[in-house]
Amino acid sequence: MSLRAAHAAEVRTPEPDALLGLVHRADAQATKGTSDLERRGLAYLQAGYPLHLRGPAGSGKTTLALRIASQLKRPVMLLVGDASFDTRRLVGHEEVTRTKRVVDRYISSVVKVENQTHAVWLDRALTVACTDGCTLVYDEFNRAPPAANNVLLTVLEERLLILSKAGRGESYLSVHPDFRAIFTSNPVDHVGTNLTQDALTDRMITLDLDVFDRDTEVAIVTARSGLKAGEAARVVDVVRDFRMSREYAQRPTLRASIMIAHIAAAQKLRLSADDPRFVQVCLDVLASKLKPDSDGRPDHRQRQLLSQLIDHFCTETIRAGQKGAGA
Ligand SMILES: Nc1ncnc2c1ncn2[C@@H]1O[C@H](COP(=O)(O)OP(=O)(O)OP(=O)(O)O)[C@@H](O)[C@H]1O
Ligand SMILES: [Mg+2]
Repeated sequence: MSLRAAHAAEVRTPEPDALLGLVHRADAQATKGTSDLERRGLAYLQAGYPLHLRGPAGSGKTTLALRIASQLKRPVMLLVGDASFDTRRLVGHEEVTRTKRVVDRYISSVVKVENQTHAVWLDRALTVACTDGCTLVYDEFNRAPPAANNVLLTVLEERLLILSKAGRGESYLSVHPDFRAIFTSNPVDHVGTNLTQDALTDRMITLDLDVFDRDTEVAIVTARSGLKAGEAARVVDVVRDFRMSREYAQRPTLRASIMIAHIAAAQKLRLSADDPRFVQVCLDVLASKLKPDSDGRPDHRQRQLLSQLIDHFCTETIRAGQKGAGA
């Protein structure tokens, strides 16, 4: 195996099963709420356009990106944006040097030593994906500095990857016809993110993801927890109502519903306000997201409101068909 290939394998999936597991997890649940986005996203990619899934935390961007990527039936390269990224980290670099020492003892009294040093080019994720025709899933791409992502401009538009080789100018690589790219970003989370570049987003088709509708959330929570749909719905309604109330410092996402339902199922708790252990799990998952009081401490009044919400949706005598409010 050549050095380049060895490194490529390392970049792609050091543990192929780990990425496969993620892709399969993404396969878990196709619901009405996600299948339309999935169909549109896949069609745009098949037509050759990069796809950008944008949405708040927990709106299902990464899952949907991996789901769509798996349907293209090409190797998937997952890259997660990071503030430390630069072009070298994306494309590759000439870094490793190989030194060859030749000792010539043709005449025993004379030792001739010759050192030969070569720069060796190492491919990184983008180069491997462009060469092998992978589907690049670039998650949270706006966490990387815009300058690092500039190299993508010609990749997406001219399908040319520019490789800058130290001291030897630039070389160009034609992008494999099967190369596709899916980007995700969170426009709301400003911690560690950069403004997305207009030039880059202008080359992509951006689909905005919102929070899932209630039925989709219930279907996902049911599938992820193993609870019955009616039980999962109680958890979903508590979390959605809390979200609607806007009495939070950190917006509760679908992840909170999955956590509560999953723990309740694993511990065989009764999904009822009468089961103190279930109420405790809800409070442990949700209370830290409440707005603190004016001194920055947990606000007991807010906590009581949360308890009332649990009472409201998880009382055994709950009216059949009662549902949480709107979005
Ligand atoms: N279609 C689905 N089927 C099963 N689970 C899903 C589905 N969509 C989302 N989820 C689950 O919901 C949670 C949030 O989804 P995901 O991680 O994709 O959101 P995200 O928008 O990428 O969030 P973040 O911005 O925080 O990274 C995860 O636990 C994920 O497994
Ligand atoms: Mg994500």
